[in-house]
Amino acid sequence: MTNIRDFNAVAQNWDEEPRRVKLAGEIATAICGRLNLSTDWDALDLGCGTGLVTLALAPHLGSITGVDSSCAMLDKLAEKVKASGTANVTTALNDLSAGEMPDGKFHLIVSAMTLHHIQDPETLLSSLASRLYPGGWIAFADLETEDGSFHEDPTGIFHHGFSRTELTRLLEHSGYAAISITEATAIHKGDRTYPVLLAVAQA
Ligand SMILES: C[S@@+](CC[C@H](N)C(=O)[O-])C[C@H]1O[C@@H](n2cnc3c(N)ncnc32)[C@H](O)[C@@H]1O
Repeated sequence: MTNIRDFNAVAQNWDEEPRRVKLAGEIATAICGRLNLSTDWDALDLGCGTGLVTLALAPHLGSITGVDSSCAMLDKLAEKVKASGTANVTTALNDLSAGEMPDGKFHLIVSAMTLHHIQDPETLLSSLASRLYPGGWIAFADLETEDGSFHEDPTGIFHHGFSRTELTRLLEHSGYAAISITEATAIHKGDRTYPVLLAVAQA
């Protein structure tokens, strides 16, 4: 039995779910509200999917690379980049759980709804700290702890969200400062509401 979620199979129709597009827009807005983004900054979007957050942040940054382990997700992002003529977005096929990451240093690393797919978030967050310029920022959005009802299919889900305490502890242990956790938005699914937290911290 595999515990790898097949994101390639859902990439083609990913953007057709209005809830996902709305959520990504709200997360991008929350990131812009918390950090003074600069067109001098180089950024990464980890687990970028089809680039809903990547493309929303791109106009506010010098460059942004969408990182994902799904080839089909990245193809979709590359298609959108080409169609929109966006000049400052690139893609990188990397498995974050295998320690893969684009070369170089960054001013900002963002991620939306991906941390719950990473078995060992502390190892990832620690390795990211060394990839940020001094004073660089990370901004991670993910579900607040939920009861497991959010995903109908549990494949590849390693965490049922994260509590504020857990996120703070993870970031402290991974060497970050200026940690702040706020509610970015909430997802309404059926008769349930799932808060989404935005954790921001400085290297
Ligand atoms: C729930 S989707 C979120 C996509 C996008 N951030 C959004 O908000 O629309 C999670 C993404 O994380 C990617 N992902 C999961 N595990 C990964 C890993 N180990 N390395 C890189 N990407 C991964 C998946 O391929 C998928 O595109």
